[in-house]
Amino acid sequence: MTKPLDTSHLWMPFTANRQFKAKPRMMASASGMYYVTDDGRKILDGTAGLWCVNAGHSHPKIVEAIQRQAAQMDFAPLFQIGHPLAFEAATALTKIAPEGMNRVFFCNDGSEGVDTALKIALAYHRMRGDGGRTRLIGRERAYHGVGFGGIAVGGIAGNRKQFGPGLAAVDHLRHPLNIEKNAYSRGLPLHGAEIADELEQRLLALHDPSCVAAVIVESLQGSTGVILPPRGYLEKIRTICDKYGILLIFDEVITGFGRLGTPFAADFFNIKPDMIVCAKGLTNAAVPMGAVIARQQIHDAFMEAAPADTIEFFHGYTYSGHPLAAAATIATLAVHKEEQLCQRAADMAPYFEDAAHSLKGLPFVKDVRNLGLVAGIELEGITGKPGARAYELFSKAFWDKGLLTRTTADVLALSPPLIISRTQIDQMFGSIADILKSLK
Ligand SMILES: Cc1ncc(COP(=O)(O)O)c(C=O)c1O
Repeated sequence: MTKPLDTSHLWMPFTANRQFKAKPRMMASASGMYYVTDDGRKILDGTAGLWCVNAGHSHPKIVEAIQRQAAQMDFAPLFQIGHPLAFEAATALTKIAPEGMNRVFFCNDGSEGVDTALKIALAYHRMRGDGGRTRLIGRERAYHGVGFGGIAVGGIAGNRKQFGPGLAAVDHLRHPLNIEKNAYSRGLPLHGAEIADELEQRLLALHDPSCVAAVIVESLQGSTGVILPPRGYLEKIRTICDKYGILLIFDEVITGFGRLGTPFAADFFNIKPDMIVCAKGLTNAAVPMGAVIARQQIHDAFMEAAPADTIEFFHGYTYSGHPLAAAATIATLAVHKEEQLCQRAADMAPYFEDAAHSLKGLPFVKDVRNLGLVAGIELEGITGKPGARAYELFSKAFWDKGLLTRTTADVLALSPPLIISRTQIDQMFGSIADILKSLK
């Protein structure tokens, strides 16, 4: 008999530790669209891990690239020395980035990417003699990871409750979720673009535009419940930022690498930000890696302001451009191209949308929101127990239906690998429908 697993020493992230340890959900292996649990059950991955395994699990070409690199050179830093793969990975990434966004800074995940982008924004203005621009603007209900910069521009009340404000010079736009007006929108909601005007009329009027360094937005707010930008909203934000010389950062940690059927949400919306933060799908999540992709002018401002023998940007991580992550990035981007994953996602999106909206009218369903291969099912909560309804659904999906979903408050979020088939989409939403009908 195998020894029972001791779960007591691991303090799990973003997990109700005691609840989990009372009845662990333990994955043992993964391939393509499925996990297999430690007791041999097959679980359909409705969330691409955590919005990240876009090409499907354990893709042989990505696995092979990592194994080869581990044997050849496990590690070399990027501080004052280099290794070719990091440069090749950066070049490969700029090939799919919007035109002119061709300078890449590597970090290890989305949180570091956000903090890196915020620091670039602040330093950029200083480098150009505009150091009064110290204020950063985010949005309510935004999730920008867990660094102090990220939680400051993020808009999650729970973060402030446990950790305080993070950074001082931050303000927030309202989030654009409006279920009353936009419930069951298919794709982008029609109402609410005018909320973007508050950037100019409220926040810039209050702080003065000359004090603002950057605005950061997730084009699609994923982790806090699939909140979509109303039509025309992001365009307005871009216009206002341009008008006042404020940098616009797109946090594409979730939307990068095909989630909306395009390489980046910037392509989907046809809006060019000044910086894109990406992670997750960059390596298909096989090795941690994040990146900030910047417009060339931003990078060049650093090069022009500092003498050639000094460090232009005083920032970096031991594992920036780690060889294994660089190998995984190159392999992942090649797989994207060979398997045309963006196109696959774009082709499948209408079917996915129909399947998601088929839940309308079922018990406890309050709203369905979708874009690309993302769907959020907002449920009526149980009074006094926020999140409990969605958790029950998540738990039943896992144990009774072999389906992995994700919850945030009372929203069930779905974001499968981009290789999902129609049959698997039917299985996913069919399982959810069955459970909804059984809930009391
Ligand atoms: C939009 C966004 N930004 C940042 C992050 C943080 O990324 P990580 O968990 O890799 O630090 C996430 C994670 O889900 C995210 O969704």
